[in-house]
Amino acid sequence: MIPVIAIDGPAGAGKSTIAKLLAKRLGLQYLDTGAMYRAVALAVKEASISPEDEAKIERLLPTLTIDLDGERVFLNGRDVSHLIRTPEIDLLASAVSRLGAVRRYLTQLQREFASKKGVVAEGRDMGTVVFPDSPYKFFLTATPEERAKRRKKQLEMQGENVLYETILKQIKKRDKQDSDRAIAPLRQAEDAQLIDTTGKTIDEILDEIIRRIKSGQEK
Ligand code: DC
Repeated sequence: MIPVIAIDGPAGAGKSTIAKLLAKRLGLQYLDTGAMYRAVALAVKEASISPEDEAKIERLLPTLTIDLDGERVFLNGRDVSHLIRTPEIDLLASAVSRLGAVRRYLTQLQREFASKKGVVAEGRDMGTVVFPDSPYKFFLTATPEERAKRRKKQLEMQGENVLYETILKQIKKRDKQDSDRAIAPLRQAEDAQLIDTTGKTIDEILDEIIRRIKSGQEK
């Protein structure tokens, strides 16, 4: 069986960092599903379509090619890895991710991706919807304040200076948007293992996950 390790959780819980390192350590592909939602958001923006206009977005989807290569993201062959990491796309991705048409399209793409080689898949609905049969499901959390702190650091490294309070407000808004949506909302799968990353180092979290995978503690 091709292994799938499903990692879900809210924005800033440490999913990306952990999933990337885990993939490297275990020799699996890294599947960043948030990047796919971001690429759709960018395409919607560039086509000047309202994120509310599901019919138009549904027609746009089959015209798109979204490819992932490690951490790089390509939209119609163009490297958009940086363009999709802006506060504007943060919110737009969250908005388009509410749409059934977008979720159906990307769910299929994600399953195709994982059908070739094992993956560490990171997102909001990996354990609940996309890979419900995976025996390795983790749900990462951290307090909104800690997540805002991490996001601020990340933005600073990209040369952007955004107020902590602004980031915290956006994180809470996104949490609400992602958790309240009707289709595939952000929630912990019943059989996922909860890991609170607040105050833990990356290595501590990584070791904990690997220990749990190896010990076959699948509940
Ligand atoms: O993980 P991220 O911040 O890059 O995700 C961007 C947005 O995409 C996020 O607001 C929620 C959405 N998303 C989703 O709905 N389902 C996923 N599997 C991954 C991301």
